[in-house]
Amino acid sequence: MAKKKKVLILNGPNLNLLGKRQPEIYGRLTLEQINRKIHALAKELGVEVEIRQSNSEGELVNWVQESPKQFGALVINAAAYTHSSVALRDALAAAGIPAVEVHISNIHKREEFRKQSLIAEVVIGQITGFGVQSYLLGLRAAVEYL
Ligand code: DQA
Repeated sequence: MAKKKKVLILNGPNLNLLGKRQPEIYGRLTLEQINRKIHALAKELGVEVEIRQSNSEGELVNWVQESPKQFGALVINAAAYTHSSVALRDALAAAGIPAVEVHISNIHKREEFRKQSLIAEVVIGQITGFGVQSYLLGLRAAVEYL
């Protein structure tokens, strides 16, 4: 499939623990179950997706840097790095690839430190607080920019 039709979905630290991690905030679905829903929607939309997760900031930075070679758009849940990573923000700005920021919980309804997203200014927009739907809405939004 042409590069333009591929969307890279990135997940940051601790999202590998979904399902057992604070289910009252993040729900009971595992990352694998969420990924199955994303793949099903991608099929419906006629796009290819690749989904990755890393607990390592450097690995996420490398993936963002390399993304324009293979992908037409990004969906990113940077998790805790949303609030701390200048490196990830710089990588997104440098890659210049259309990116959608997503969060399972509504970061604006939580602790003060979560209200600031360092990546918000370098993405198209933010989808926050819709649970697993945040990823699906994020994919729909990203597809519009392919
Ligand atoms: C999160 C929100 C972040 O503040 C938090 O650090 C996460 C997950 C979310 O999807 O709601 O790990 O990005």
